[in-house]
Amino acid sequence: MKVNILVVEDEHDQRELICDILTASGFQVMSADCVEQAILYIKSNKFDVVFSDWKLGELSGLDLLNYVRRNQAELGFVIATAYGTINHAVEALQQGADDYLPKPFKRQELLITIDKALKANQLRGQNKALSAQLGEQKQLVGLVGKAPCMQKVYQRIGKVSATNATVLILGESGTGKELAARALHDNSNRAHEKFVAINCGAIAESIAEAELFGAEKGAYTGANSSKIGRFESANHGTIFLDEIGELSPSLQSHLLRFLQESTITRLGSNDEIKLDIRVIAATHRDLPEEVAQGRFREDLFYRLNVVPIKMPALRERQEDIAILTDHFIQLHAKQYQSEAKKLTPECYRLLLDYHWPGNVRELSNRIERYILLDDEEELTQNMEMNFTGSPNSTDFPRFKMPADGFNWEQFERYCLSQALEFNQGNRTKAAKYLNLPYKAFLYRLEKFKISHS
Ligand SMILES: Nc1ncnc2c1ncn2[C@@H]1O[C@H](COP(=O)(O)OP(=O)(O)OP(=O)(O)O)[C@@H](O)[C@H]1O
Ligand SMILES: [Mg+2]
Repeated sequence: MKVNILVVEDEHDQRELICDILTASGFQVMSADCVEQAILYIKSNKFDVVFSDWKLGELSGLDLLNYVRRNQAELGFVIATAYGTINHAVEALQQGADDYLPKPFKRQELLITIDKALKANQLRGQNKALSAQLGEQKQLVGLVGKAPCMQKVYQRIGKVSATNATVLILGESGTGKELAARALHDNSNRAHEKFVAINCGAIAESIAEAELFGAEKGAYTGANSSKIGRFESANHGTIFLDEIGELSPSLQSHLLRFLQESTITRLGSNDEIKLDIRVIAATHRDLPEEVAQGRFREDLFYRLNVVPIKMPALRERQEDIAILTDHFIQLHAKQYQSEAKKLTPECYRLLLDYHWPGNVRELSNRIERYILLDDEEELTQNMEMNFTGSPNSTDFPRFKMPADGFNWEQFERYCLSQALEFNQGNRTKAAKYLNLPYKAFLYRLEKFKISHS
């Protein structure tokens, strides 16, 4: 079936051009020259994606976006913004656009962004069907974000929450692994039972076994009475084994036994106790690598990895940064009973451009500091240091910094232009060449007002 796209653009030549490109790429295209006409078309046709210009006479693409989000929330939506109007892009993403495209754009860039909106549209459609299947429209508690990669996460959570399948949640620090675990529990039929979270990296080895599996009176010095372990206390509920990569070899074998047989034995006892527990584990470590290095049991890894869920890094879902920012401003302002002050466009630009090594947690912390101290600089401090790890001179053998200093901005401008030159003006390739996300690259081009024809 053909994909249907509505192009909304008031300028005749532009509109024709965009329609021609899309039609030539196999899309079914309709076009409108104003918001009112677009709304009429949307009411009477079934579209997959709307591609709208920002400026449309009296009204704007944002008005159309608002209409769409209220009336046909699944529809994919892309806004084209004028060159150098980054605050428009931010606003569009905040209001729920799937992507934006700074003008002038190339054919390939148009197609990439349409493809992204289409994916988002399809996932929203599937998620809606899934929620309907589950009978009730449950919010995935706490998880904010609508990027396609997050939609996939919601979908997985939706599919497996009602089952007892063991889930392994992977992802960098601060990506929301614990929130996802709670969402799994809250959407399951164990929701009214206990959710017991255990940080495997934080229990002392000497007491770990008794702590987790319990102990009989007299099992060790000081055990004056029998003790119920964390597993037993989670019976009928969910146990969340956080930082599973830190589990000691002896506890790894205990856990393996539990996963195989659903039984535990208290320390100092021979009796097996049968338990009914759903296990969710999480780690920021590369577990297959830990297995390869002999630090993690392979058989345990397979037992845990029944359903893997990968939480995307924040830098992989740049379109969610503005929404998350506003979410945390509201949240922390409420927490401290202070004013939810809007950020300046310059500040948003820095947030979008940053590589977020600490992911959502870092964003939340920075905004908390901003709300407390009422100072944007607290929010953007040290954001310019865009290196992961500490680069040393062997990474850049041919690059020597001049002894008497140099103009960084001029240098950055030079690198950006060179990258474009090397790649015949192809911005997608130039961004790859610099190892930058495409959007981050565009921001920099805009910042330095670089264009390439
Ligand atoms: N998608 C999201 N929407 C809203 N808040 C989020 C989201 N992801 C994470 N957070 C918030 O960010 C913080 C970190 O999340 P969480 O503790 O779940 O991360 P984590 O992956 O378990 O991190 P770590 O590996 O460091 O333990 C929490 O305050 C959480 O509420
Ligand atoms: Mg965690």
